[in-house]
Amino acid sequence: MKIRNLIVGFAAAAFSLVAFAQQPIVIKFSHVVANDTPKGHAAEYFKKKAEELTGGRVKVEVYANSTLYKDKEEMEALQLGAVQMLATALSKFGPLGVKEFEVFDLPYLFDNYEELHKVTQGPIGRQLLDKLDAKGVKGLAYWDNGFKSFSANKPLRTPEDFKGLKMRIQSSKVLESQMRALGSLPQVMAFSEVYQALQTGVVDGTENPMSNLYTQKMYEVQKNLTLTDHGYLGYAVITNKKFWEGLPADIRAKLEDAMAQATRYANQMAKVDNEKALEAVKASGKTQIYTPTPQERLALKKAMMKTHTEMESRIGRDLIQSIYKETGFDPTKL
Ligand code: LMR
Repeated sequence: MKIRNLIVGFAAAAFSLVAFAQQPIVIKFSHVVANDTPKGHAAEYFKKKAEELTGGRVKVEVYANSTLYKDKEEMEALQLGAVQMLATALSKFGPLGVKEFEVFDLPYLFDNYEELHKVTQGPIGRQLLDKLDAKGVKGLAYWDNGFKSFSANKPLRTPEDFKGLKMRIQSSKVLESQMRALGSLPQVMAFSEVYQALQTGVVDGTENPMSNLYTQKMYEVQKNLTLTDHGYLGYAVITNKKFWEGLPADIRAKLEDAMAQATRYANQMAKVDNEKALEAVKASGKTQIYTPTPQERLALKKAMMKTHTEMESRIGRDLIQSIYKETGFDPTKL
C-alpha cells in the first residue's frame, strides 16, 4: 500500500513538473502609442513571430496606448520586472540616467532614414544600447518612427512665430534647449496627456511625427501644421536584463530572431505609416498644412543649431562629433 502511494505521489509530481514546464513564458510588452502606428505594428509583429518561432513556449501580451503604464511608470515597471519589454522613445532615457540617447533629439542631425541607420545600425548605436546594462536593462534594437513636424494654433513659419508659445515636449533636455532656442516655453508632459493639454490650452503646440499626430487626434485641436522634419523620433526596444539572461538559451535565440525580423518590419512600416497618416490629416481638412520654403527651412535650422553646442556638455562632444562623421553633417557649413 505504501509503495502504491509512493508511486502515485511520484506520478503526480512528475505530472505537475510537465505541466509547469509547459506553462508559457509571458512577455508583457507595454507601450504608449496607438496600435495603428509604426511601434504598434512592430510590437504586434514581434508577438506573432516570437510565438511562432518558439512554438507557443513564449506568449507576448501587448498593452498599447498607455493602458498599462504611462511614460515614466513604464520604465520603473520594467526595472521592477512588472513588464518585460518596452519600446521607449530615445528622448526618454534621461530619467534612467542614460542621457546620451538624447543625441538623437538634436535638431536637423539626420536628413533622412539612410543617414540615421548608419548610426542606429552601426557601432555607435550598439555602444549606446550597451550603456543600459548598468541600469539592469538590456537594449535589444532600434525601431524607427520618423521625422517630427511642429503644430500650433497659428502658422509657424519663422523662428519669431514660436516666441512665447508653450510647447509640449518629451522628457529630454535637448528638446528643452531646442524649444528655448526658438523662444518658446517647453513643457514636459506624458504622451497620454498631450491631446487634452492641447484641447484645453494647457499647451499651445507640440512636435511629433505624423503617425502620432494622427492617431492621437492632435490634428483636430491644432489649426496649423508645418512640415519641418526638424528632428527624429525613434525607439530603443528594451527588456529587463535579469529576465532576459534568465531565459533558456534556445528560447532567447528564437526571441532574438523574432526581434531582428520585427526590426526590419518596423523600419519598413515607419515610412508607410507616416505617409498614410499625413494623407489622412490632409484629407480631414481640420488643420492647415504648410511646407516651408528652403529659405524658411534654413532660418529655422540656423535658429535651432545652437542646441548642438549647448548640449555638448550633457551628451558628450565626442559622441556628437562621431555622429557628424558618420553622416557627413557639418554644422559650420549651413
Ligand atoms: C511622445 O511622447 O511624443 C512619443 O515618445 C510617443 C511615442 O512613444 O511615440
